[in-house]
Amino acid sequence: MSNTVIVGTQWGDEGKGKIVDLLSEYSDYVVRFQGGNNAGHTMVVDGNEIISHLVPSGILQKKMCFIGNGVVVDPVVLLEEIDYLGSKDVDVSSEMLKVSDRAHMIMPYHRSIDQAREIKKGDKKIGTTGRGIGPCYEDRATRRGIRFGDLLDFDLFGEKVLTIMDEKNFYLEKYLNAPPLDPQGVISDFKDIRNRLLPYIADVSVLLNKGMNDGKHILFEGAQGTHLDIEHGTYPFVTSSSTVSGNAACGSGVGPRHLNEIIGIVKAYTTRVGSGPFPTELFDDIGDAIQKKGAEFGATTGRKRRCGWLDMVMLKNAVRLNSLTGLVITKLDVLDDLDEIKICTGYEYEGRTMEYFPSSIKVLERCRPIYETHPGWKTVTSKLTKWDDFPESTKKYLSRIEELSTVPIKILSVGPGREATIMMESFF
Ligand code: GDP
Ligand code: IMO
Ligand code: MG
Repeated sequence: MSNTVIVGTQWGDEGKGKIVDLLSEYSDYVVRFQGGNNAGHTMVVDGNEIISHLVPSGILQKKMCFIGNGVVVDPVVLLEEIDYLGSKDVDVSSEMLKVSDRAHMIMPYHRSIDQAREIKKGDKKIGTTGRGIGPCYEDRATRRGIRFGDLLDFDLFGEKVLTIMDEKNFYLEKYLNAPPLDPQGVISDFKDIRNRLLPYIADVSVLLNKGMNDGKHILFEGAQGTHLDIEHGTYPFVTSSSTVSGNAACGSGVGPRHLNEIIGIVKAYTTRVGSGPFPTELFDDIGDAIQKKGAEFGATTGRKRRCGWLDMVMLKNAVRLNSLTGLVITKLDVLDDLDEIKICTGYEYEGRTMEYFPSSIKVLERCRPIYETHPGWKTVTSKLTKWDDFPESTKKYLSRIEELSTVPIKILSVGPGREATIMMESFF
């Protein structure tokens, strides 16, 4: 398999973890290029569920994994995850994982600020994961961030922490009414963290490019989804990184000419965690049934996911923004029991049809979905292994998605496990 980028096309949780785990078999390296431990990627192998937040999902297939410069990494969470995976007999030694010296660290004050800001915002909150993602990217942009490379010179690291914490504590106490943090305590906690992390720190861009020169193939693991993108998503109800495929290059230090295939993961319906507009959201029994059957609870925060119909305005937006070359449809099995299945083909706004996803959330909030209705297939699909075995109505529903998106479906997923997957002929 040539270098392949995996991105979410909706608002995250499309099943990227499962697909990255699956496709890692055909890759040599797996790299995360944005986001942080706001991500929760689920893999189910032989009935055992493993959720990763930072370590790329290729680790279960024993592939060399990388955390690129574009990721914001909470070092405490990373070490916990290394221990958690180790307890499941997954090797996450520094032979198997490298973290970019340019990746920014989520510091304890980033977490405090994220959480205190949400409390202060009250019912206007974004519904962040509270993991410090936004405040960390903010410091990166204002050039006050602390990077993994800073751990190499611990004295300088300490100086940087003292300087920045002076300001952060002022902001926490005086503006957010939250308790300040002890800078010396933060520095001293980092002594152990540093000792454990030093062997993992490397110039990831150099390693990836050397690998490619030696014929290695890379799988780029996106986190979140296109509509949570800081620029293209439903701003301000978005995350703080660029989630689209172009950032696979920038966030890992690989030039864009090396991105060969761009695969968009599409849940057969739509979900969203946190606040923000959601045109096809269902507030009825069907929405509840999808939420229950799909076990739609956040893999990071455990929050109930909002559910709605598949939205082609969004998917077409994702096709354009990511240059998708293929689609993976996940959680098809969740729709098995429904009498009718709807696809949103456009939005109606003030008496006219909107073709494109609007930039204003005020406009999006007032868009009414235009639906076409497909008959349900009322067949258990989770045990099917071949395209030919699928009912005609399922095939029609899927063909319609291909037709409207103009992108071929390469993989179908009908259950959480690796085995519940149908690879289409066109895949390789
Ligand atoms: P990610 O963030 O995109 O990796 O997705 P999550 O792991 O947060 O959420 C996807 C959830 O759906 C996980 O619980 C997966 O185990 C599960 N899942 C993935 N694919 C399928 C599928 O085809 N059918 C069903 N029923 N569950 C799936
Ligand atoms: P994966 O990779 C779903 C959402 C949060 C919130 C908004 C901003 O598992 O698909 P943040 O903590 O990033 O500042 O929160 O983004 N969000 C996700 N929703 N899946 C994710 O990741 C998400 N990561 C962030 O719920 O609405
Ligand atoms: Mg998730």
